[in-house]
Amino acid sequence: MPRARTKPKRKPRKAAKPGGGRAKRAPARRRSKPEPYVPRLANLLGISQLAPADITAILDQAETFIEVLKRPIPVVPALRGKTVVNLFFEASTRTSTSFALAASRLSAQCVNFSIGSSSVKKGETLLDTARTIEAMRVDGVIIRHSMPGAAHFLSRRIKSFVVNAGDGCHEHPTQALLDAFTLRRRLGTLKDKRVLLVGDIAHSRVARSNILCFSKLGARVAVCGPPTLIPPHIEELGCEVFYRLDRVLYEVDVVNMLRVQTERISSSLFPSVREYRALYGLTAERLSELNTSVVILHPGPVNWGVEMDFEVAELPQALILNQVTNGVAVRMAVLYLLAGGQVGDTDTAETK
Ligand code: CP
Repeated sequence: MPRARTKPKRKPRKAAKPGGGRAKRAPARRRSKPEPYVPRLANLLGISQLAPADITAILDQAETFIEVLKRPIPVVPALRGKTVVNLFFEASTRTSTSFALAASRLSAQCVNFSIGSSSVKKGETLLDTARTIEAMRVDGVIIRHSMPGAAHFLSRRIKSFVVNAGDGCHEHPTQALLDAFTLRRRLGTLKDKRVLLVGDIAHSRVARSNILCFSKLGARVAVCGPPTLIPPHIEELGCEVFYRLDRVLYEVDVVNMLRVQTERISSSLFPSVREYRALYGLTAERLSELNTSVVILHPGPVNWGVEMDFEVAELPQALILNQVTNGVAVRMAVLYLLAGGQVGDTDTAETK
């Protein structure tokens, strides 16, 4: 006898949820956003200590602060309760003011230490000065000094973080960072861009920091100046060397003019200011003859009529004042990251 066909068994239905609703499917797992890279910086002593990813992270953080600086009240509470000291043993307008503003825009306190009226005048040493200031419980020291290595010296002896704001002819890392930031904003990227630094390469801390910084971001860097102002072995930093400006100016994307460091040049290293200007000065005639719209940088202060003419600074491709404006955002990023902030932390963008 044929067996009766049985219906295939149905899968039992899922029990209804208490309250009558149907059980919901577990939501599909979203792919989580990659964590932003956080540079582990104890101090900022030079560009030589930074990896390309550190530089990029600092510039990305500065982008957040550029937005803050455009607000009617350009202040965020990110570093409330922190204190930094501007310890400048050399003159400065841009760097010292910019650090003071950066600190105040982050709600930190900045004490400007005036060497002229301090006990340095009575012979107090750099270390004693720094230890005295640290005993007052500050979080960071921003130092400019004529001695190469002064910031490194200090960082090994005090617990507060140290920022090098220029040490002799050695490094000026925040200038390099703000210059890279300014170029990235104008050109989109530094990768494969040709950048020419012109002038007193031998005595310039900006030259050294900028060569390192631009190269780490993928730019092709060259220097140009009189042979007496180009240090031996500069190629080891990864740059080409030229001695004639007109030979190379027309083929670069960026020209970074440098100040003739009259305070650091002990003897005459070029025949005359007139000859220097004729061979290396960025004049309106030179630019118009070459028919170039090269982007122009200068860290300032400028010796007008020597390395650059005043009319050149008025051209739309001259970014000298943009560099100054961007300097505040970049220094905010540096202070913020050194004081323990997280890259891209949106809390920093909350207006006070
Ligand atoms: N560019 C720069 O370091 O300028 P100051 O000397 O005015 O700080």
